[in-house]
Amino acid sequence: MSRKLWYSLTVILVLGSLILTACGGGAAADNQVEVFSWWTGGGEAAGLEAMIKVFDAQNPNIEFINAAVAGGAGTNARAVLATRLQSGEPPDSWQGHAGQELIGTYVADGQIEPLNDLYESEGWLAVMPETLIPLISADGKIYSVPVNIHRANVLWYNPAILEANGVAVPTTMDEWFAAMDTLQAAGVTPLALGEQWTQMHLMETVLLGTLGPDAYNGLWDGTTDWGSAEVTAALDNFQKALTYTNSDAASLSWQDAAQLVVNGDAAFNVMGDWAEGYFRELGKAPMTDYGWAPVPGSVGVFQFLSDSFTLAVGAPHPKSATAWLKIAGSKAGQEAFNPVKGSICARTDCDKNLFGVYLQSAMDDWASNTVVGSLTHGVVANDSWKSEIDTALGLFIATPDVATFQSALVAACASSGPCK
Ligand code: GAL
Repeated sequence: MSRKLWYSLTVILVLGSLILTACGGGAAADNQVEVFSWWTGGGEAAGLEAMIKVFDAQNPNIEFINAAVAGGAGTNARAVLATRLQSGEPPDSWQGHAGQELIGTYVADGQIEPLNDLYESEGWLAVMPETLIPLISADGKIYSVPVNIHRANVLWYNPAILEANGVAVPTTMDEWFAAMDTLQAAGVTPLALGEQWTQMHLMETVLLGTLGPDAYNGLWDGTTDWGSAEVTAALDNFQKALTYTNSDAASLSWQDAAQLVVNGDAAFNVMGDWAEGYFRELGKAPMTDYGWAPVPGSVGVFQFLSDSFTLAVGAPHPKSATAWLKIAGSKAGQEAFNPVKGSICARTDCDKNLFGVYLQSAMDDWASNTVVGSLTHGVVANDSWKSEIDTALGLFIATPDVATFQSALVAACASSGPCK
């Protein structure tokens, strides 16, 4: 082969491989990040946007792709995510709840990467709550970056409606039922409720309010018998609570239901404190348009959940995903996100003055209350157990029979929970 021909062939080969790489024939260019969540509205999107702003300012060369899928509590988003994971097309990073959702699902299925190096380089172990780390760890590996702490057991109320009906803020189940009897007799909708996941949310808070924190925790570690009389009493309370709700619950989102309270169309709503982010977005004022208290029976208990972000195994843009996770775990990122989202920082060093009066009270409670985990939001049960409970709940709502419901819950613990 002549030298000239040899030279030309080499040039063609080199150019060809450069073109292939640029077109994605080699590794994808790592200059964008796809982040998957269910924060599309009602204070949640605004919180995410605030954190994206911090990301953009610090990463001007990385394009942020917001792959949020609408639907409270991730009911739709998690189905879409499951399909993507099955077909090997993961987003770079997705929202997952600290606890069993993360460990018993994504880690168990080998879908997310450990992040110990990042914890080391960012010094996060010194600023994330010690109690949270075990909920995002397995075998010494830490698997996600928590951005917040939410409270699930909040009773939101309309102060003017309570006052007009001579009703005091209830602190026990019996006081709550008596208050709702008075309101119902006066023609007020006592308790605003939405679609099925909000019904599971109500159920878990009533279980907590009736059983107390120790027996509630025992449901998830096998030390409380799902078939016991105390659980029957809790389910009776849940059934009774449902009798005070609006008849169109199934067709309302959490925002629709929460809005009934601030618009003066219902007295109470049980919802996590993302509702507060929503009330603020609606321009409503704390203590005037809405008040809050722990769900009756759960005074002194903080039923928590934590949103965290992951790094996908096989993430198309691992470097950019790491840049995103650094922002999610940073003080600046969390201080931008949480006051808008309606949550408190997962980090322990955020500036309290950036937060409104409700969230300041949540910070105090988080620091001093007994802490237990949420079912609906992924802390205490993995996906398969939760989905069995959800199926039983759906049947109960259609045909409210406590004995049948309780047997189904006993069976769910035996097939997917710690009662095996
Ligand atoms: C939860 C999530 C919260 C909020 C809520 C309503 O599962 O942890 O951050 O998004 O759903 O959508």
